[in-house]
Amino acid sequence: MATTKEKLIEHVMKGEAVGSRNKVTVVGVGMVGMASAVSILLKELADEIALVDVMEDKLKGEALDLQHGGLFLRTPKIVADKDYSVTANSMVVVVTAGARQQEGESRLNLVQRNVNIFKFIIPNIVKYSPNCIILVVSNPVDILTYVAWKLSGFPRHRVIGSGTNLDSARFRFLMSEKLNLHPSSCHGWIIGEHGDSSVAVWSGVNVAGVNLQKLNPDMGTEKDKEDWKIVHKTVVDGAYEVIKLKGYTSWAIGMSVADLVETILKNLRKVHPVSTLVQGMYGVKDEVFLSVPCVLGNSGLTDIVHMTLQPEEEKQLVKSSETLWSVQKELTL
Ligand SMILES: NC(=O)c1ccc[n+]([C@@H]2O[C@H](COP(=O)([O-])OP(=O)(O)OC[C@H]3O[C@@H](n4cnc5c(N)ncnc54)[C@H](O)[C@@H]3O)[C@@H](O)[C@H]2O)c1
Repeated sequence: MATTKEKLIEHVMKGEAVGSRNKVTVVGVGMVGMASAVSILLKELADEIALVDVMEDKLKGEALDLQHGGLFLRTPKIVADKDYSVTANSMVVVVTAGARQQEGESRLNLVQRNVNIFKFIIPNIVKYSPNCIILVVSNPVDILTYVAWKLSGFPRHRVIGSGTNLDSARFRFLMSEKLNLHPSSCHGWIIGEHGDSSVAVWSGVNVAGVNLQKLNPDMGTEKDKEDWKIVHKTVVDGAYEVIKLKGYTSWAIGMSVADLVETILKNLRKVHPVSTLVQGMYGVKDEVFLSVPCVLGNSGLTDIVHMTLQPEEEKQLVKSSETLWSVQKELTL
């Protein structure tokens, strides 16, 4: 007796159907992981999304909730499991998993706890998607990108940290508010360490190729009567402000992750400020990851754009690299 489905549909293809071609995995379904997953879904970038977490109920609940929105999406397959076989053959794996700092816990201790989590996550990603591009978001992102690179054994062009991509977006938003223009028309780069010691490259800030430092030579210095320096300070304080108000940051980081994933999957070769190995550049001696302008495409991070930096800016990069190295060399990988 034929089933309703058999009566309705004549199956013509012999053999196995071709699977997903543009699969993205998100590891960690916390606030950042879910904002990233939803942003990737709404931009219609992937034909399959896999979610992984250690909290099984939360993972199942998030996956079901997204699947129920299937009618409104263009991503036909959403899968989730704590077993990494669900991630097999991903093009991009976004890592947002991580322990949160506990009261009285030192930063170094948090790093080691997240390294221990990465020791489990990264080999599993590599096992099931040996050709993928790993995009690290978990903090401290520059150190954890280095850790992911070491643990994966991947070439450096396939391990990328989201780095100052978000810091730069915050800078361009604040610049846009000051000038009453869309952020995409406001060009400015935040490079270096994601967070407190990031570097604003004032010498390159421009609108339509008009260099703002030529209009205001004091821009970015203490002498500046318009106090543009506060824009960078607001960027640095941005995450703390959002966390103070709502407890965590999610939407902007999620959207910035989706922007990076779009550039990679569509092979756009757009230039993004992301974290990569910078040893040997700008006087950096140690094996550390910091953000500089990088070309991204479907092979990963293929090129780095040389920025013309002021001596002060280079000095800050070297200082950040030394701070990162002092933490990294204490880690047990
Ligand atoms: N790079 C950036 O610009 C940026 C911006 C915002 C947040 N972050 C970082 O992103 C990370 C996640 O933040 P969040 O707010 O989503 O935290 P969260 O606590 O909401 O989520 C973390 C998730 O990781 C999961 N997890 C823990 N161990 C795991 C493991 N071994 N395998 C799989 N999953 C595991 C947890 O169960 C949880 O669901 C943090 O490290 C945060 O600091 C980075």
